This record gives sequence, structure tokens and C-alpha cells, in this order.
Amino acid sequence: MFSRSFLFAVLSSTAFLHSVSFVRGYKIAVIGGGIGGTATAYFLRNTLDPQPQVDVFEENEVGGRLDLSTLSGFQYELGGSIIHPRNKHVVELVNRLGLEHRSDPPFSKTSFFDGKEIVFEDSSWTVVDLAKMAWRYGPMTLYKANKQLQDMLGHFDRIYDIQESGDCFANVSELLSAMSPTFPAMTQTSADTIEDLSAEFMREIVGAALRVNYGQYSANATKFVTFVSLAGSEGGLWAIDGGNKRLPYALLAAADAFLIPHKVRKVERSQDERYLLHWDQVSDTYDAVVVAAPFDGTLELPSNMQASVRPMEGIWVTLIEASAVNSSYFGRPVSDVIAVGLAWFNSIGRVWPVDGRTPDKPVYKIFSAEKPSRQLLESVFVDVGQVEQHHWLAYPHYDWSKNADASFQLGPGLWYNNAIEWTASAMEMSLVGAKNAANCAAKHLGLALKQPEPIDKDEL
Ligand SMILES: Cc1cc2nc3c(=O)[nH]c(=O)nc-3n(C[C@H](O)[C@H](O)[C@H](O)COP(=O)(O)OP(=O)(O)OC[C@H]3O[C@@H](n4cnc5c(N)ncnc54)[C@H](O)[C@@H]3O)c2cc1C
Ligand SMILES: *[C@@H]1O[C@H](CO)[C@@H](O)[C@H](O)[C@H]1NC(C)=O
Ligand SMILES: *[C@@H]1O[C@H](CO)[C@@H](O)[C@H](O)[C@H]1NC(C)=O
Ligand SMILES: *[C@@H]1O[C@H](CO)[C@@H](O)[C@H](O)[C@H]1NC(C)=O
Repeated sequence: MFSRSFLFAVLSSTAFLHSVSFVRGYKIAVIGGGIGGTATAYFLRNTLDPQPQVDVFEENEVGGRLDLSTLSGFQYELGGSIIHPRNKHVVELVNRLGLEHRSDPPFSKTSFFDGKEIVFEDSSWTVVDLAKMAWRYGPMTLYKANKQLQDMLGHFDRIYDIQESGDCFANVSELLSAMSPTFPAMTQTSADTIEDLSAEFMREIVGAALRVNYGQYSANATKFVTFVSLAGSEGGLWAIDGGNKRLPYALLAAADAFLIPHKVRKVERSQDERYLLHWDQVSDTYDAVVVAAPFDGTLELPSNMQASVRPMEGIWVTLIEASAVNSSYFGRPVSDVIAVGLAWFNSIGRVWPVDGRTPDKPVYKIFSAEKPSRQLLESVFVDVGQVEQHHWLAYPHYDWSKNADASFQLGPGLWYNNAIEWTASAMEMSLVGAKNAANCAAKHLGLALKQPEPIDKDEL
């Protein structure tokens, strides 16, 4: 993944050609090679003029929380899996980089389990297509829930024009205010304050959406993240053919940035007001730095440029081959199950391989707070085959009583993309953070912003 020709990049940069006296090109470090860090590298290299040198540091695997797991020769999404059709950054990058969409076969039927029994079932777990649920919640509740969701998506859409015009935001609440003056308050109020929705709808549908998408309950979540999870329950969701982690790999290739496979331990301010990064036994100086990972306290930052460590939700993902879900465990035949009350799992769902093939034996994905034992799995599933389990620090623990606002800008030329995650975590949110960092870097270094060049797809 090293640059084809760094020398070529330097020689052809307009800074070099236009300068009479030598002007050194800028050098920017991106810490983290997930979708957010690789997209930052892509935007920095393809929209800043003249083009800076970019080094991407990744201590683990490129892709981060986008990863695959293999069962019997088929690959499945282990981390971030679904993309909303209105996630414009993802949609545009996927098209630009020549990747393809994949949609799984529609859900057969989703059952809602309260810990003891299935309380109801629905064949279309989508908020926009809730006609069948109207009998339970009343049509007005559905209408109002959907109207509030569509209003929010409409306001969210404004971010794309705002970012296109080159705006840079120093903190998350300023970015949210630019989309809608109502957004910052939505990150500081409980989901329970959502107006006009029946208690039953809140408990069951809203609770289920939060549990499925973020592994947590409505009581502590913010109104903002609750609507994001409702959007994640809409129709038209898709994924990237071959696996979502193909996007970070394609972004890194199209950025033509250096990949440095090490953990950055420390970021210091250098005497010439640049940044000195330390990794392995090496250190180097950069004009600007972008932190593209949730801050966990293991990266040392200058003492006056801190980001706070915030709690993440630990989630176990279990992929299991089985011929069926044991119907006597649930009291009736089921396929996909979402917990709406006390249950050891958050959700159980049939999944399909990322290449669109159909495996010989069905595979289910389970999300849970604790790691399920083989014995438990064998009582819930029939004829269990291979099992793969992975623990993630998956997404923030959302709590409306804690201020979700956080700074993107930690210091002059030092940005923190994942500040945005405490408002809501999703691939698209990391891309909003990435574009913001590139816009801020352009402003800070006094570089022009341009449209990215069309990609020569044969080169990828
Ligand atoms: C189980 C699960 C399900 C999810 N489902 C969805 C979904 O359906 N749809 C959706 O949109 N989102 C989903 N998400 C969320 C989504 O995956 C994340 O929001 C997104 O992938 C975050 O990307 P990122 O690049 O910001 O961070 P990460 O992917 O966490 O990348 C950060 C990278 O930085 C590296 N790193 C950290 N510190 C250092 C250091 N000091 N030096 C070098 N490298 C470092 C890490 O190794 C990591 O690779 C899900 C997440 C999980 C875990
Ligand atoms: C809500 O937050 C409190 C305090 O952070 C915590 O003790 C409690 O377990 C949380 N409740 C849920 C349902 O997550
Ligand atoms: C299915 O579940 C029932 C009830 O929990 C249990 O008694 C039975 O042993 C399970 N069947 C299998 C095949 O594990
Ligand atoms: C973000 O900016 C707003 C407006 O300038 C300010 O009121 C708020 O305190 C800032 N938040 C943080 C975390 O710095």
C-alpha cells in the first residue's frame, strides 16, 4: 500500500512547480485506518490543492470496525453491516470507487421477544412500511413517528451542501446547528421526550430499534441517536458487495497515501509549532494531525489538547451455523428475533455471505452483551455447526444526561474525527467527520479545495 511514486507526487504538485523559492509540501498524519481515517486520507489527497503528503497509521487491520468472519468458506459481516440509502457520502464514494451494492433477501418475518415469549411478529420491520403494525399502535402514532423521522433526515441532508462548500466546524454542536437549530438539543434530551408517541410504541418499536442498532435501551439514550436507530430500521438498506471493508481499502488505494502499520503512542508539539509523532522506535514531524479513532486514553496528546475518554458499549457478535432456530425455545417457529424485554441477546437474525451466494447451511448472527456459551447456543439452535465469536467495543454508550458535544479541533492543526460518534455512531457519521477534517486542514494550511478527479478504475 505504499505510494507508487512519492517523488512523482512531490514533483507534480503545484506547490513545487509554481514556487520560485522552494516551498516544501505539507505533511499530514492520520491516526487510524478505519473508514473514517482512510476517507480522511482520500479527501486530503484528492480535494486539497496542492496535494499534501499523507501518512495513515493503523496498529491493527485496515477497516477497523468493518471486518469479516469466515464460516465454512463463506464470509460474513462481523462489524458495521447496513448502509442507509440516504447516506450520501457512502453512496458517492462507493460509486466513485467502482464498488457494487448488495442487498440481502428480504426478512422473512421478525419476531419481538420480551424474554419469555414472542409478543408480536411482523413481516416487514420497517418504520415506513408499518401499515401492519397500525392495529397495535394506532395509525396516528405511526404517522407521527414517521413524520419526525423524515423531518430529521431532511435536516441531516443539509450537511452535504454545507461540507461541499468547504465549511469547517470546530465542534460537533456547531456542525449539528448548521443542519438544524433543533439538533443540539436532541443530543441532550432523553428519547422519552419524543412527543406524541404512545408508550407502547416507545417501549417496543423505539426500544427494539435502539437495541438492535446500538445494543442499549431507550431509558438512557438521546433523542438524536434514537431517531438514527429508527432510520436504521427503514427499508432500502444495503451493503457493499464483497464486504463493507472494501470501501476503506479502496479509499486508501485511491488516496495513494503511505500506510504505516504501527500504533502511534504519542503526539507532541514540536518547537516549530508542528507535531511530532512517536511510534515503534521512530518519530517524525507533521504539519497537521487527524485522530480518526475513538479516544481511549492510550494515545498521549499534548496536555492542553485533550479529548475525553468516554464509555463504549461492549458487544459480542456470534456467527453460528445451524439448520434452524429451536422453535420450542421461543414457543413457536421463528427466524429473526429482536429482544424487546429481558433476554440474554439483543437480536438474532439470519445473515447472508457478502458475495451474495447461498451457503449450504443457514447462518445466524447474534448480538449480546455477554458471550453465549456453546451449551446455550445448542439449546436455542438446532443442529449447530461452526461458531465464530468476536467482542467489539462497538459504539458509545449513549446517555442523554452527559453532554454529547465534543471538539473536533483539539489544537491548531489537530483534529479529532470521532468526536462525532457521541452524537451517533455509523459509517456515514465517520465520513462526515472525515470531510470536516479535510475542510479544516485546507483552511488551516491555506490550501485550495477542489473537486476530486475522476478515478481511473483500472488502476484500483
Ligand atoms: C458490531 C457492529 C455493528 C455495527 N453496525 C453498523 C451498521 O450496520 N451501520 C453503520 O453505519 N455502522 C455500524 N456500526 C458502526 C460503524 O462500524 C462505525 O461507526 C465505523 O466503522 C467507525 O469507523 P471509524 O473509522 O471512525 O473507527 P474504527 O473503525 O474504529 O477505526 C479506527 C482505527 O484506528 C486504529 N487505531 C486506534 N488507535 C490507534 C493508534 N494510536 N495508532 C494507530 N492506529 C490506531 C484502530 O485499530 C482502528 O482500526 C457497527 C459497529 C459494530 C462494532
Ligand atoms: C443508565 O445509566 C446509568 C448511569 O450511567 C446506569 O447505571 C444504568 O445501568 C443505565 N441503564 C441502562 C438501561 O443502560
Ligand atoms: C429446544 O428448546 C427446548 C426448550 O428450551 C429444549 O427442551 C430442547 O432440548 C431444545 N431442543 C434442542 C434440539 O436443543
Ligand atoms: C462548541 O461551540 C459552541 C458555540 O461556539 C459552544 O457554545 C460550545 O461550548 C462548544 N463546545 C465545546 C465542547 O467546546
